[in-house]
Order: sequence, then C-alpha cells, then structure tokens
Amino acid sequence: MVRIRIQNLGNRSIETENTERKVIELIHENGIDWMHACGKKGRCTTCKMHILAGQEHLSPETPEELNFRTLGRLLPDERLACQANILQGELILRVPETSKLSHLTYTE
Ligand code: FES
Repeated sequence: MVRIRIQNLGNRSIETENTERKVIELIHENGIDWMHACGKKGRCTTCKMHILAGQEHLSPETPEELNFRTLGRLLPDERLACQANILQGELILRVPETSKLSHLTYTE
C-alpha cells in the first residue's frame, strides 16, 4: 500500500497498491484535477509537485526531469507528476503556486 497526500487540497489522500502508475495518473483516477499542459509527456513542467516528504519513495528521475533540473525549471524539492511513480510509503506534496487551476479551491 502506498499513499499520496496533497496538503493544499484539503489533505486529500490517495491509497493504492498500484505502483506501476505515474503519480499524475493516480491523482486523475481519483477524481482530482491536476495541470498537465503537454499531455503528460514530460515536456512542460506544469504538472510539477512540491514534495514535502517522501521524495525517497519515488522512482529515479527521468531524462526529462534531469533536463529541466539542469535548466533550473525544477527545484530540488520538485518532481514531475507525469514522470514519477511512488514505489513505497507515503508521499506528501503541495500544488505549486504556478500550477494551481483557477477552478479549484486550494487550502493551506
Ligand atoms: S504534463 Fe507536461 S511535464 Fe508533466
């Protein structure tokens, strides 16, 4: 069992046994809207997550993420939801300011 908790979406939690799906797929499959301007192809960074805890539980960074990190578009505590899988444990994250959707209400 792995768990994803989105702090600034009212601590919405997702629990699953499925570690084969990308984090963004798990979020979408649980009815939570999440920005993904390039269609989840690792080309835009709009799906980025601000990781508060559990970064060590994620799959290794993809070449796309490493490229954005080199360009300074992905900070050390950020990952792309369309590139990362959660492999074990709990992931606690926030939606970054730049990736908030106008029709959703975010909490603190
Ligand atoms: S949706 Fe574009 S990088 Fe993830």
